[in-house]
Amino acid sequence: MTTSTSRPAGPLHGLARVPGDKSISHRALMLGALAVGETSIAGLLEGDDVMCTVRALRALGAEIQRGDDGVWRVHGVGVGGLAEPAATLDMGNAGTGARLLMGVVASHPITCQFTGDASLCARPMGRVAEPLAAIGAQIVARDGMRLPLSVTGSDDPLPIVYRLPVPSAQVKSAVLFAGLNTPGATTVIEPEPTRDHTERLMRHFGATLDIGVEADGARRITLTGQPELAARHVTVPGDPSSAAFLMVAGLIAPGSSLTIEGVGVNPLRSGLLATLAEMGADIALSDEREEGGEPVADVHVSAGPLKGVEVPAVRAPTMIDEYPVLAVAAAFAEGATVMHGLAELRVKESDRLAAIVAGLEACGVAVEAADDSLTVTGSGGPVEGGGHIATRLDHRIAMAFLVLGLAARQPVTIDDATPIDSSFPGFAALFNRLGADIG
Ligand code: S3P
Repeated sequence: MTTSTSRPAGPLHGLARVPGDKSISHRALMLGALAVGETSIAGLLEGDDVMCTVRALRALGAEIQRGDDGVWRVHGVGVGGLAEPAATLDMGNAGTGARLLMGVVASHPITCQFTGDASLCARPMGRVAEPLAAIGAQIVARDGMRLPLSVTGSDDPLPIVYRLPVPSAQVKSAVLFAGLNTPGATTVIEPEPTRDHTERLMRHFGATLDIGVEADGARRITLTGQPELAARHVTVPGDPSSAAFLMVAGLIAPGSSLTIEGVGVNPLRSGLLATLAEMGADIALSDEREEGGEPVADVHVSAGPLKGVEVPAVRAPTMIDEYPVLAVAAAFAEGATVMHGLAELRVKESDRLAAIVAGLEACGVAVEAADDSLTVTGSGGPVEGGGHIATRLDHRIAMAFLVLGLAARQPVTIDDATPIDSSFPGFAALFNRLGADIG
């Protein structure tokens, strides 16, 4: 455990880039491993979570190297070509890596053991085990369907039609990844649209996906199984969930003005931008473009007053990882911000609803949580700060409270900064270069 303290400093100024998108990085590596030929990936997130996926895919038979140019090269084995690993796959803190790889393995006739850190071993895996069992995989887990667990993939996988019971891109993607080596058409129906990086990237690698709308408005995604995936180049955009910390810091630290270049602005990830705009934030996009099949833009933020708003439940899937830092922005806004539809926050890297409440209370902020909603009431000025925050192996809780400390009256200390490396290596150095004081 390494403690870290952020102190009220001056304004933040300048130009920054954030590390590559974590969701896209995991998926690009997996598709590269299942393609034939050499896939190159520029801008891959070199955080701990993604490195767990690199090691796991190597153990499954893919060759993966990082070039001196920073570009990662993956020699794929082709759909259906993965080999049984000799040892347990340790997925660290990475829920996305674990769940998507369980899907990949489910339609390969191999057995894999999966484990992870204390946070990952506490997270529910039944949500992916259930559809993967319907496809034909055998999953053996301890009580509560948690890691460590083993997956024996089917040598005769069945195509399924699966309606998501929870709005989860990880569950959708696990089923679609299993569908890659399944004959026939695998369909996922999602009543609430979730991030579509899997669909975009599978098409980029040459898979056929048919995307339509059900009579009740749900999104229907049908993948044609057993495609020959062709190696491709992928450029990974900056992670909007990492850019979120810079955006909120730039809004709440008085006098700040920041530009964040090359941020992913996929509409299924952009809920925070919409919410901050409603709060009155001075935030603008420029140079909107497409890179590697994903919309990207430069984001400009300047500090200024924020007001409390009501955030509807339908928006939750498009900003599910951004609630810790939105709660920080809300603490500096005038009036109450009420966030609805947050049940999924209870099963993230930590129980984020509980972690947000405990952290804000420790920093003198009025906060209240119900089953699946959160109300943060700000006074429109700096918050007291001074809290000692338990980060609970949760990178986003760690970063959100360091951001709060930059604009509070008193420094904020987190008990462990190491989880930050799972998604945002170089976080403190980047903030300090822009004028922050995080030590
Ligand atoms: C992710 C989906 C989300 C998100 C996670 C990354 C993905 O999880 O919280 O950080 O890459 O598909 P859920 O699918 O559990 O909502």
